[in-house]
Amino acid sequence: MADKVFHDFQDDGIGDESVIGGVERHRAVDLPAGLALPDRLVVPARPDSIRAFAKWRGDRPLVVEVGAGKGRFLVSLAAQRPDLRFLGFETRLGLCAHVLERAAKAGRDNVAMAWGDARFNLPLLVPRGTAIEAYLLFPDPWWKRRHARRRHGAAMSRAIADALVPGGLLVLKSDIAEYLAAMVAAFDATGDWNPTQAPDDLPLTDRQTRLSFQGTKSFTAAFLRR
Ligand SMILES: C[S@@+](CC[C@H](N)C(=O)[O-])C[C@H]1O[C@@H](n2cnc3c(N)ncnc32)[C@H](O)[C@@H]1O
Repeated sequence: MADKVFHDFQDDGIGDESVIGGVERHRAVDLPAGLALPDRLVVPARPDSIRAFAKWRGDRPLVVEVGAGKGRFLVSLAAQRPDLRFLGFETRLGLCAHVLERAAKAGRDNVAMAWGDARFNLPLLVPRGTAIEAYLLFPDPWWKRRHARRRHGAAMSRAIADALVPGGLLVLKSDIAEYLAAMVAAFDATGDWNPTQAPDDLPLTDRQTRLSFQGTKSFTAAFLRR
């Protein structure tokens, strides 16, 4: 993947960063008919799932991950820190279910998943300034021009910054140096962040595990919420 050319497309007038699938879809779309709502899955169109999440979280410290994928990172961190609550955001329903199954198999009851774009779901689920850490690890680079508005920029930065407490940690990782640099520039330009060192003992993600197997480098940046 990393040998492809990452085009910025900004000068092409691609338009503003957008919620994947659109805001209306997030407000309206329920689970496919006949599918029961799994415990600790939040579906934004289901107020009962939002209330259940808030009750489950209570006033415990919360860690969030945008784009949790298959959940290796989230479930590993949840195992290391059983007193915290962990909330993953994932646009793919099948992956939400996969992460919850993985957490259950690992005996972790401190992991929840929210189905949909984190730009929409973060402000819906995480009261302002109440998450202690956030992770955005190996996001899709959306190589094609027609998908480039899905990339993470100022809108994702705002959603994460609003969720975090002052001093809260945000870690970004990518194997595409140009995408990481573009995210860092966009996030930095919001004025919400101070640069910091990322912890060097974080668990690997699923993608990172594959990359390190292939000898592909990954790049990291970290910020503290101002
Ligand atoms: C390349 S995968 C990486 C997954 C995981 N972080 C890893 O490193 O293995 C990126 C994941 O982010 C999800 N995703 C993309 N945009 C998202 C968004 N705006 N909100 C929530 N999830 C998103 C995708 O469905 C995909 O599973």
